[in-house]
Amino acid sequence: MKLENPTTHSVSADALALEHFWMPFTANRQFKQAPRLLAGAKDMHYTTPEGRKILDGTAGLWCVNAGHCRAPIVEAIQRQAATMDFAPTFQMGHPLVFEAATAVAEVTPEGMDRVFFTNSGSESVDTAMKIALAYHRARGEPSRRLIIGRERGYHGVNFGGTAVGGIPGNRKTFPQLMAIVDHLRSTHDMARNAHSRGMPAHGAEFADELERLVTLHDASNIAAVIVEPVAGSTGVLLPPKGYLERLREICTKHGILLIFDEVITGFGRLGTPFAADFFNVRPDMMTVAKAINNAAIPMGAVIVDNRIHDTVIDATPVGGIEFMHGYTYSGHPMAAAAVIATQQLYKDEQTFARAAAIAPYFEDAVHSLRDARHVIDVRNLGLVAGIELAPRAGAPGKRAYEAFVKCFEMGVLVRTTGDIFALSPPLIIEKSHIDQLVSMLRDALGTVE
Ligand SMILES: Cc1ncc(COP(=O)(O)O)c(C=O)c1O
Repeated sequence: MKLENPTTHSVSADALALEHFWMPFTANRQFKQAPRLLAGAKDMHYTTPEGRKILDGTAGLWCVNAGHCRAPIVEAIQRQAATMDFAPTFQMGHPLVFEAATAVAEVTPEGMDRVFFTNSGSESVDTAMKIALAYHRARGEPSRRLIIGRERGYHGVNFGGTAVGGIPGNRKTFPQLMAIVDHLRSTHDMARNAHSRGMPAHGAEFADELERLVTLHDASNIAAVIVEPVAGSTGVLLPPKGYLERLREICTKHGILLIFDEVITGFGRLGTPFAADFFNVRPDMMTVAKAINNAAIPMGAVIVDNRIHDTVIDATPVGGIEFMHGYTYSGHPMAAAAVIATQQLYKDEQTFARAAAIAPYFEDAVHSLRDARHVIDVRNLGLVAGIELAPRAGAPGKRAYEAFVKCFEMGVLVRTTGDIFALSPPLIIEKSHIDQLVSMLRDALGTVE
């Protein structure tokens, strides 16, 4: 079916052919019966095609940290689209991609300033896994091929990330994708840690399980451990106090690389540039995407410890390609322009410090939901919060889904995973928005059985 005017953003669902777009991570048939559309966005709000304003409680998908359609980013992309739409980065370069890498390197931990560009978090994860293998091979230990993830971890949807991820629903259609993964257990322990403010007190010892896996597989076969410092997509699971430090210690002891998947936590979500800074734990690589350029154009990156970079590079004689990997769009000019503008905006507006300053207010507000209907746990850190509901008997996820739809009807966008609400607003959120977000969520919970 041809649309009258397919570029009109205010076109309503009734005028659209919905069958052609196979929607990702969506109940397609249910959605297409009752679509929810967004057509415009500015700062803290979306607008629907009918002109309703929706408060964005999720920064899109944990990614629009500076708020929507910010002028410096929009202008940088527009300028670049008219100057040079595309240029290859294989055996060629363009100035912006080097400037973008430099802008990112300015906020990364000391000695971690080598940047490999990708187009998404999933690609960043698979790239980091390959770098880990390349590094050990370059060091003369090619047997180190096993990558250890964690139950309930989310590392995107490519084959590597799906295998090392630990969300059962994501894996069950694609079992045993790669023989070379294993998993730590999840750190989630609601019996001991429910309603913790900030980092939970109990569970540092979950890291000791890595010693068990080292005994089982032998360190000489293990390349890397990958974890989200704060697990987001699985429903906001926070690291217990001391857990990440312990994981770091055990990795170092056995020569295993530690990769932090900072696709959600990178660029200010916890009030610091990275979760690595917040927890003061130094990984060997960080995978990022999303807020690297405020999600304005698809972009991801692997941020690599200089020592690892140098080891891989130096293993090949000068003139040889050192790492046989890359994407057509690695460092796409428009994405790179958006990175430079976004990083400058974060600096000019002190976005990360602002997030840190408002985090205590956000914490109090979300914990006020402790007595809201169905709530069994509230957890938070920085500008991220998880609110877990008791599942409806025999219908897990349904209660949260209905409350999510209700929220959208009331004018706020939240995200659910199973029976957990995940809140991750743009970092420019004001107190009045936090009040609105929490009160609408409470009201919505009151309406669902
Ligand atoms: C921790 C983490 N890793 C990887 C990804 C995958 O990123 P993308 O959807 O850009 O491929 C996500 C997405 O939410 C994520 O949260």
